[in-house]
Amino acid sequence: MTNLTGKQIVLGVTGGIAAYKAAELTRLLRNAGASVRVAMTRAATAFVSPLTFQALSGNPVHTELLDTEEESAMGHISLARWADLVLIAPATADFIARLRIGLGDDLLSTVCLATRASIAVAPAMNQAMWDNPATQENVRCLSDRGVRILGPAEGDQACGEVGLGRLLEPQRICDELESFFGDGALAGLSVLISAGPTREPIDPVRYISNRSSGKMGYALAEAAARAGAKVSLVTGPTALKAPRVNEVSWVESAAEMYRCIMSKVPSADIYIGAAAVADYSPETAADRKIKKDQLEMVLTLRKTQDILSAVSALPKRPFTVGFAAETDDLENYARQKLVAKSLDMVAANWVGRDEGGFENDDNALFVCWNGGDTYLPLASKKTIAEQLIHLIAERYHAQNSAKDSR
Ligand SMILES: Cc1cc2nc3c(=O)[nH]c(=O)nc-3n(C[C@H](O)[C@H](O)[C@H](O)COP(=O)(O)O)c2cc1C
Repeated sequence: MTNLTGKQIVLGVTGGIAAYKAAELTRLLRNAGASVRVAMTRAATAFVSPLTFQALSGNPVHTELLDTEEESAMGHISLARWADLVLIAPATADFIARLRIGLGDDLLSTVCLATRASIAVAPAMNQAMWDNPATQENVRCLSDRGVRILGPAEGDQACGEVGLGRLLEPQRICDELESFFGDGALAGLSVLISAGPTREPIDPVRYISNRSSGKMGYALAEAAARAGAKVSLVTGPTALKAPRVNEVSWVESAAEMYRCIMSKVPSADIYIGAAAVADYSPETAADRKIKKDQLEMVLTLRKTQDILSAVSALPKRPFTVGFAAETDDLENYARQKLVAKSLDMVAANWVGRDEGGFENDDNALFVCWNGGDTYLPLASKKTIAEQLIHLIAERYHAQNSAKDSR
């Protein structure tokens, strides 16, 4: 068994000189247990015959978007849905540019647009093409959107130049994908995650909310999925693209978040409460827009139900992780929260600073549990999410093996 066993990979081959190396890559991916379906751009077929990939992948090769026979069953959509991962290797400068601007002018680019699976890109091109500001900007933009960029490598090029731009060796690409699919630290477990802010209605047009962007919770959901978990995400309103997880439920208010979490938590092994749920909500919400004819207005707020405490009080509770956002005395508040809400772990972040916390792309966490704590220093929320998920997996398994040996 490898992390690639049973994984369904659409391998996109584009028209570069390194297209021949994708044949070896197909073989390696299949040897590692993955199912591979190859989609080629028209230019790629000038470099290597589709027949080569058909023989190596054991599946028909897809080249044409406007193939009436295949499209009678919406071929590009079914390929997009089938994929656990779309890997473009080699990726030309041209294809990277098309991916960046979201063109759907051939089969492969349309699959990339239509898929909810992760996309990985292994660029291969002349070093000056790689160095070109347009290519660099395109790659940076794709990376910011969550596309995984594999390589390129440095060395001799087919054009006789030397520099950055070579396709990573097929074995390296395979290794990268192995780690991308995670080490299975949460394999077979169900993880329920809440994310984002809530909105507490004052009237049909106004609400009270907070500055949570949802980025941390979404990054955790993706990291948990990569670690092999079945992930259900319950999210308040955010501007983010839904992450690629098993289930996403959208809610608005703290009361809706409470109901949704409580209905899903019985089947969860781990609950991570990363949402910034309102602590108080207007006692009543006007059913018509409130007019501005009074000089003062008093809003009576009532405490919302505490989701974390409700989850941790369940007789058959999941491993429960709470988040804390504090402006001061972070460690003390985090430890108090751990005890007061009988949680298994608290991840606390500073807010109101220049770096980290709400809305930022980076974060730093102080994490504590019964009998230990650690710092996760400032890094991208994606990196912090991966580190936290591994910590959660470690504590979850340690707690369960202690229970089993009792
Ligand atoms: C012999 C030859 C080799 C090429 N090698 C590359 C390459 O390695 N990388 C690249 O980005 N473009 C390369 N190109 C240019 C692409 O083939 C061209 O941009 C094409 O439009 C790419 O189409 P596609 O992105 O749809 O596959 C090469 C062209 C030729 C004629």
